[in-house]
Amino acid sequence: MTHSPQPVTITSSWVRIASVEALQGERPVIPVTAFGQALVLFRDEEGELGLIGRYCPHRGADLCYGRHENNGLRCPFHGWHFDRSGQCTEQPAEPEDSKMYKMIRLPSFTVVERDGAIYAQDAGALPAAT
Ligand code: FES
Repeated sequence: MTHSPQPVTITSSWVRIASVEALQGERPVIPVTAFGQALVLFRDEEGELGLIGRYCPHRGADLCYGRHENNGLRCPFHGWHFDRSGQCTEQPAEPEDSKMYKMIRLPSFTVVERDGAIYAQDAGALPAAT
């Protein structure tokens, strides 16, 4: 899997949240605190990064202990699955035809890799002055 850099310029609105090295190994999932929030940073099977809310919106389980699978994290308690955008994609205990999962989304932040570091940007941050 390869990860192609996104065309962004690192400015003061980006915050360094981790080293690329911190996500190496068999389980690329780490807790991060940024923008005043507890978050979880992970690399999915496609090599893309996700920075999403750390606690499951169902009963508050810590997604840092979730299963790293299907391009996201699966909650260790009841199995809700979240992708790198924070979107819930599965609720195993719901009826088969339930679409409730589509209404559930964790906070998420844009992340990029530059020169061995991972940076995040708060969606509410103002663009850099030109
Ligand atoms: S606490 Fe996460 S699915 Fe229930």
